[in-house]
Parts: sequence; structure tokens; C-alpha cells
Amino acid sequence: MISPKPSLKTLTPYVPGRSLESVLKDTGVSALVKLASNESLWGPSPLAVDAAQHAVASGLTFYPQSDPESLYNTLARIHHLHPDQVIAGNGADELLELIALTYAGEGDDIIYPAPSFSAYRHGALMTGARGIAAELTPEGAVDLQDVLRRLTPETRIIFLCSPNNPTGGIIRQDEWDQFLARVPDSVLVAVDQAYFEFATDPLYAHTDQAIASGKPVIMLRTLSKIYALAGLRIGWAAAPSGIIRTLKTARQPFSVNSVALAAAQAALDDQHYIRQVLTETAAARDYMAAQWQARGYQFWTSHANFITVDLRSPARNWAGQLERAGFITRPGDSFGLPRHLRITVAPIPILEKFFAAFDSLSSG
Ligand SMILES: Cc1ncc(COP(=O)(O)O)c(C=O)c1O
Repeated sequence: MISPKPSLKTLTPYVPGRSLESVLKDTGVSALVKLASNESLWGPSPLAVDAAQHAVASGLTFYPQSDPESLYNTLARIHHLHPDQVIAGNGADELLELIALTYAGEGDDIIYPAPSFSAYRHGALMTGARGIAAELTPEGAVDLQDVLRRLTPETRIIFLCSPNNPTGGIIRQDEWDQFLARVPDSVLVAVDQAYFEFATDPLYAHTDQAIASGKPVIMLRTLSKIYALAGLRIGWAAAPSGIIRTLKTARQPFSVNSVALAAAQAALDDQHYIRQVLTETAAARDYMAAQWQARGYQFWTSHANFITVDLRSPARNWAGQLERAGFITRPGDSFGLPRHLRITVAPIPILEKFFAAFDSLSSG
């Protein structure tokens, strides 16, 4: 009888936001809006779509570049890094797993926040390391004091998430600086910044300085959120060049396909479009927050492109009714928050329809 390694016995499949196809199949409703996985409903830059089409038309016969130099140069230029400090991956997801597999194994500890993105626990289980969950603050940010309390001599990796999914809280610069001074250099601190672009609060902790000073810090970014290229699967990470060299040795050579590389390059070159999307997303987030507040529901102040609200009764029931009304949302069960619903921020006209639909529901 074949069985997986013992650490995988408690692994359960990832619970994604429901797809348009599966909700259409269940409900028969075809005019569906997906607000379940925090993709940007503003869509990608038209230049990125053109670049993807051009890449397909130019031919799909050959392997993509393993080390996409021009993409690394672009990322380095925009983010004030050295190209040697950058690695691209098949979504931030691939890089999160790669980090875990490269730097931890059986007998090690990996600390991550909870409730948070499930990839950190998944990575720990994949490696056979012990996963240790740290708490959030009441504001829905990772509680760095709690992380420090959970450090052991076996700790190899700390995963942090800022803004945190699903709460939207951020790590502040002062907390980050104090925290980093207390983490030993034998521990890799991986900060998932998938929602970085939406976090415009001046207190938001930036990790670039730590990377420039050679600290074992790695930051992860994605083109799945504000850049709206989730379907192509591309993300990237930055760290001191020694860490990046190690990760490049351990990774699969061709995980990022040529269409994604072309689209990412064009999307990054169109920062004017991203600034416009950010302005509109921030206004729509304020609108959504005001709507929940007016209805008397509690929610965490979000620095990302979603808001998670406490509906005071099983969110799964609300989500089911909303699907029949044409909106796919994300109930918080898989985050251990069964009364909470996470809703992606969308253009205000869509949100107006969403709240009209919500108001017409009986109750959870
Ligand atoms: C915090 C966080 N990190 C990473 C990801 C995945 O990013 P990617 O699509 O680049 O794999 C997500 C997607 O929801 C996320 O919420």
C-alpha cells in the first residue's frame, strides 16, 4: 500500500474561490461577477493583452527564457533593486513553496500567521517541517510580538503577510524594524506582499532596506492582483543575491511561460495604467467600507483590494444566496472564520449592484 510522507497526512486540498464555471453549473446563473479571489476587475493593461497576443502569434514552439534578463532589469529599475536580487516564478505560489522546500525540512520549524493565506502552512507540510501558527493583532495584522514568542532554535523560516489575506491589516515600519533586529540571521523572513500596491498608508513597512543590507529577508510580489494577470501565473521575489542564487539552483528552469513573460513586461512598463487602477480601487474600497458601516456590520480596515466582513451568521449561507443573485464571494470557513465573508473590491457600479442584491436577501 502506497502512502504519502507522514507530514502530508493532515494536508487538505486548497479551497479556492469558486470559479465562474462551477457556479454557473450549480445555479444556472450566467451573468456572474467573481468577487472571490481578489483579481482586479479593472483587468490588465491593454498593452499587456497586446503583448500576450503578440507572444502567441510569434510562436509557442520554443522553451521560454529561464532567466528573463529584461524582466529582471525592469523589476530592478522600478523597485530600486539589483537584477541579481530578483527571481520570477509561476505565481507567488510557486515561489512560496520553493522557499519552504529550499530552506526547511523535517525537524525544522516554520512560523506563519493565522488566519492567513494557506500556502505557508501548505509549504511547511510539504517539507515535513513543523508548522507553527502565530496570531493576528485586533487590527488584522500579523502580531510580530507573538511571532517572536514562538521562535525556537529549530525555526528556519518565518512567513509574514502584509497586507494580510483575509484581514487586510499591515505591518508598520517601526514594528518591522524592531522585529527584524530580534530575529537571528539563521532564520529566513519571507514577507508575502501580494497586495503591496494597494497599501498606500505611509506607515506600511517596506522591506527593500533590509534586503539591500543583506539581511535574510525575501519579499514576494505578484502580477495576479493589481496587474490582473492571474490567469497567466507570474509572480516574483527579491532577496539578497546569495538567497536568489540558491533559489535559482533549486527551482524548475521553465516554470514561467513565454506568454506570461511578455505580458508581465508590458504590464510593468505601463505604470500609468496601474496608478489609475489604484486610484479607482482605493475609492471603491472606501465606498465598500462605508456601505458595510451603514448596514452596521463590523469589518477589518483593509489595505488591500478586499474587505472581510463579519455577517454574524454562517457566511456560507450568504455566499450561496449571493451566487444565485449573480455574485461569487468567499466565505471564511477555510480561514477558520465561518461568519466572515471576503469580498473583492470592484468598480463602484458593480458594488452598487452587489449591495442592492445583498439588501434583497432574506438573511444568512
Ligand atoms: C497573500 C497571497 N499571496 C499569494 C497569492 C498567490 O499569488 P499568485 O497568484 O502570484 O500565485 C495570493 C492569492 O490569492 C495571496 O492572497
